[in-house]
Amino acid sequence: MNVIAPTVSAPVLKNKGLEIALSDGVSHYFNYYWLRDNCPTSFDAATRERSFDIFHLATAPRAAQAEVKDNALEIVWQDEDHVTRFPLSWLEAYREGKPRRDPSDLPRVAWYGDHYPNVPRFSQPRLVADPEARAKWIEAMLTEGFTIVTDMPDSDAALTEIANLIGQVRPTFFGDYFDVKTHINPTNTAYTASALELHTDTPAEDNAPGVQFLHCRANTVQGGDSLYADGVAVASDFRQRDPEGFRLLSEVATPFYCEHDSYDMRSRQTVIELDQHGEVSGLTISQHMADIFDLPQDLLDEYYPAFCRFGRMLQEEKYVMKFLMKAGECMVFDNHRIVHGRAAYSATSGDRYLRGCYTDRAEMRSTYRALVSKGRFKA
Ligand SMILES: [Fe+2]
Repeated sequence: MNVIAPTVSAPVLKNKGLEIALSDGVSHYFNYYWLRDNCPTSFDAATRERSFDIFHLATAPRAAQAEVKDNALEIVWQDEDHVTRFPLSWLEAYREGKPRRDPSDLPRVAWYGDHYPNVPRFSQPRLVADPEARAKWIEAMLTEGFTIVTDMPDSDAALTEIANLIGQVRPTFFGDYFDVKTHINPTNTAYTASALELHTDTPAEDNAPGVQFLHCRANTVQGGDSLYADGVAVASDFRQRDPEGFRLLSEVATPFYCEHDSYDMRSRQTVIELDQHGEVSGLTISQHMADIFDLPQDLLDEYYPAFCRFGRMLQEEKYVMKFLMKAGECMVFDNHRIVHGRAAYSATSGDRYLRGCYTDRAEMRSTYRALVSKGRFKA
């Protein structure tokens, strides 16, 4: 039997780019600048950065000739002594002009008030020792946004060590670390024994820290239950229940502030944050750090009731997970997604000491990609 090899049609050269038929049998267009800039020789093997300088080509790049040889597109460039070879499989990945696949772009899984027994838990020594456990931990952070690290040593160093598994400790204007216990002259409601309503931290920063660590070092007081809710669960349900309220809270930015003797931090944020797919990715909310809403008063006729409807929904029993933190546990959660608070406690009934810090979301995604994928350069 005669096997007829598929014919590969020659690339068609155009003014600003070329057309080539790929595995789908359809002709795809690629721009000459893009082809020249992304020639495999443009990248330095050691630094993995682009070392080619397209700004200083004497003339606009243009193919003098192009052909398909050994499953690769070979281009001889005009006005330049250079030949580029692209495996056809590489061109396939970019033919649609869609963003490169991102292994950290995982679908979020909403959770509700009964979630506590199912919270993903990871032992600190295991995370330190095992990259696969770290990948599972970060995957849970990306999908659920809330995890508990157990078996934490009772030391400051243990918190730094666990945070550094995700990224660098990211300071806020309060410093690198913070201690949550009752203070004699509190600058923040967190440093009192009062109840703390559900909120995200430091909303007055332009880009509030993405991942929060709360290491429980002591908790023997009466009361002080921890409260957590999944902003994705609440806001996604709010979208169904109250579409107009959802539109206002995801489109209208409101001011946040944090002000005391030596600082006056301000930002504007929407309460509901959407990702590149239009899905709810998080919240920025804090009644104690919401500045005076400086919006047109007739817009406030609509905005305030929606804001209150959402704020009340956030506190519904259906969504709020309540539990008592234990010494030796570290709560790790997405500060742009998970709202946290606590019930009041009796400051004289025992010790309550949490030590905390932050890292960033982008660095968490970076660490995850490096753990689970080959990227563009790894062999
Ligand atoms: Fe907080």
